[in-house]
Amino acid sequence: MLDLSLANALYPHWVELRRAFHREPELAFEEVETAKKVIAELERLDIPYQYQGKGGGVIGQIEGGSGVTVALRADMDALPGTETTGLPFSSMIPGKMHACGHDAHMAMVLGAAALLKAAPPPGTVLLVFQPAEERGGGARVILRSGVLTGVRAIFGGHVTHHYRVGEIMVGAGVVTAQSDSFTICIRGRGGHGARPHEAIDAVVIAGFLITAIQTLISREIDPLHPSVVTIGKVQAGNAANVIAEEAFLEGTIRTTRPEARRHLHAGLKRMAKALAELHRAEIDLEIRDGYPPVVNSLREAKIAQRAVVKVVGEEGWIPLEQPSMGSEDFAFYLQEIPGCYVRFGARRREDEFIPLHSPAFDINEEVLKVGALYFAQVAWEALLDYGRGEVGL
Ligand code: NI
Repeated sequence: MLDLSLANALYPHWVELRRAFHREPELAFEEVETAKKVIAELERLDIPYQYQGKGGGVIGQIEGGSGVTVALRADMDALPGTETTGLPFSSMIPGKMHACGHDAHMAMVLGAAALLKAAPPPGTVLLVFQPAEERGGGARVILRSGVLTGVRAIFGGHVTHHYRVGEIMVGAGVVTAQSDSFTICIRGRGGHGARPHEAIDAVVIAGFLITAIQTLISREIDPLHPSVVTIGKVQAGNAANVIAEEAFLEGTIRTTRPEARRHLHAGLKRMAKALAELHRAEIDLEIRDGYPPVVNSLREAKIAQRAVVKVVGEEGWIPLEQPSMGSEDFAFYLQEIPGCYVRFGARRREDEFIPLHSPAFDINEEVLKVGALYFAQVAWEALLDYGRGEVGL
């Protein structure tokens, strides 16, 4: 079906595409130049598309005969942060960087588009380039626009250093955690650093609260139910000899079980209330719902697994292991459409592990070929499977 020699021939072009995205990163909902590059490539491939404008997506469409439609999804946004890779194609935009590999995902899906043009699939394939995966849930913008109405299944993936190039992790079930965020505002009474008895020190209360919250995970949640509470931001005080009146904390909660999530939400409220009482302060806690868990459906996970084995062989197939505590707005698609989310091994060297979102993040670009072949193959496999009716179940 798919031509490996064509993939090899096109690979240098996919590298160029990825590097062009990488040089000019744009943050969530600002992906205008990025969309232009996607559109230029779709036009070059003579693929019709719809552009939803700034803050929206680009949807390419490869028409096929059967009346069944499947979607392939790539995310377009970059992250705030200053790149430290020193690569010749490093970010040219100060304070912005493709530190999560979305540049690679776009090149992969565009690569798959070229392969599918050369080997037209038995059905229609939508190429979904969505905005704002990192922040704001761009997937919901795509869903609300209605372009996915009637789509039978959706497939997505993410690069990772957890695996080598040539390895793809796939399986049915929970792939990523539920993510929620919270902010805490502690209000005490400001005062002179030398006269604590006249004040209520928000910094000291923040210290108690930070420590107390850690016990929710270590003492209250079943250790077999992966959960995290991280406080990533603390702000308080203005001078060394002034007692801070207020302190602000921001954090994230990751859970893989609804009961653990409920317990952590309740536990945060309980501790905030108790510490306010204990220290004569006011503590406001706000918890915001984040991305739900990514849950791969069984039939689509099997379809994806067949594609994985065809592209990287049995030896490259990594069965789904523990869920990742990361989060992904691909979850929103999977709440409405069956589908499968995979991870593409992308380590540059065996001894090198660079986490996603690191300012030093980079990939082994060979993963672009693996990803392009996988996306094209999974579209084929899905359309063949649905074409056979329900036999594939
Ligand atoms: Ni990402």
